[in-house]
Amino acid sequence: MTTTDRPFPPARPGAGERYATPQQVSQYRLGDTTLVGGEGIRAWDSEGREYLDCVSGTFNLLLGHQHPEVMAAVREQTERLVFASSSFRTEPTDRLMQELAAISPPNLTRVNLRSSSGSTANEGAIKMAQLHTGRRDVIVPFRAHLGQSIATAGLNGTAKLRAPFPYRYPGGLHVPGPYCFRCFYRQTPDTCGMLCVERIEDFITYASSGSVACVVIEPISGAGGNIVPPDGYLQELRRFCDEHEIVLVFDEIQTGLGRTGSMFAADHFGVQPHMMTLAKGLTGSGLPMAAILTEERMADWDRGLHGFTYGSHTLSAAAALATLEVVRRPGFLENVRASGEVLLTRLRDLQRDRPVLGDVRGIGLMLGVELVEPDGSPAVARARAYQRALQDHGVLVRVSEHGEGSTIELRPPLILTPDEAHLVADRFAEALEEIT
Ligand SMILES: Cc1ncc(COP(=O)(O)O)c(C=O)c1O
Repeated sequence: MTTTDRPFPPARPGAGERYATPQQVSQYRLGDTTLVGGEGIRAWDSEGREYLDCVSGTFNLLLGHQHPEVMAAVREQTERLVFASSSFRTEPTDRLMQELAAISPPNLTRVNLRSSSGSTANEGAIKMAQLHTGRRDVIVPFRAHLGQSIATAGLNGTAKLRAPFPYRYPGGLHVPGPYCFRCFYRQTPDTCGMLCVERIEDFITYASSGSVACVVIEPISGAGGNIVPPDGYLQELRRFCDEHEIVLVFDEIQTGLGRTGSMFAADHFGVQPHMMTLAKGLTGSGLPMAAILTEERMADWDRGLHGFTYGSHTLSAAAALATLEVVRRPGFLENVRASGEVLLTRLRDLQRDRPVLGDVRGIGLMLGVELVEPDGSPAVARARAYQRALQDHGVLVRVSEHGEGSTIELRPPLILTPDEAHLVADRFAEALEEIT
């Protein structure tokens, strides 16, 4: 049947007839589990099974499901004003910009709220860097995940995810990242002399267009495998960027707002980027919003150059303000560090007599467990099996799709308590029995 043969308006099922199933009408393969509710770190499916949501939705429910204070702020804002275009000021968006400038590294004094996703925030940061420097190329580490828009998908550091599309973003320059467990240069952190920064010079000289605007890097590569850089790497990268007048952008879309036990990974590592992007966790409980923070020198920017309908979203801004209030409360970040420490220690204990757990790494509540085959190669099938076994044991995790696919990623809501961290670790041990 051609499209013109179709009855219009489309026939709706009559009495006794049935709609096609969701899978029949969905353009992509749907998951097998239907979630129907959530509270805090827990979520429930339609069969009544309970899960510890150790991926915080899609790494965005920073405060877990239905955080009461965020929900109350959203309800209150819903009564007043859900949305105003970014041509207008609103109280929540004004205050949010002020708060973000106040808590971010002191050199980041300007805030742009005109995108609502991480991909478009990263693209905005790239456009600003290009405009500011008059140059074009974007350096990203192998395994990076910048987003899924056509430009960011082309910049992501994994060829298999670029392969289906005929073009890639011109000027993307991929360089080896600081992945010490599988060092590109076959070095160890104490002897390497930070080759993964030094050699960027060669990539610029021989592989770039000769015109580099910025480096975009996640301080901890999230979907790439929870890759934590060695001490001094980000300092060295910042020094390199300053020397070459390249804008250093930290994508803190996963690492920001308390995930590492510091407000930003920039604070944890003690390095100030020239720009920072935020999204995901910014609204605490799942509403869309992103932010680009820049230095004063990049403040001169025509807002018409990068703006989206749902940018500066009033309701999301109200949720973000409530989230920041919780995250800034005394003791909140201490809890992230304490619960993260419990989980890291327990997983490292588990690793001791289980060679399949090749590396356990992370900071705060951003942890990764890399599975390896006996010859040290990435254990991709076993990581998937572990993920499934964990779900059977009531724990939701992800695998590192932008990296080897062999790292289990853990990003529980930041409200996880040390006791709950023990519970998660217990289930990791139980599920491991099934796959080893
Ligand atoms: C580090 C990082 N950057 C950017 C993005 C893209 O964000 P979004 O999906 O909101 O466009 C993601 C999403 O997973 C991410 O993890």
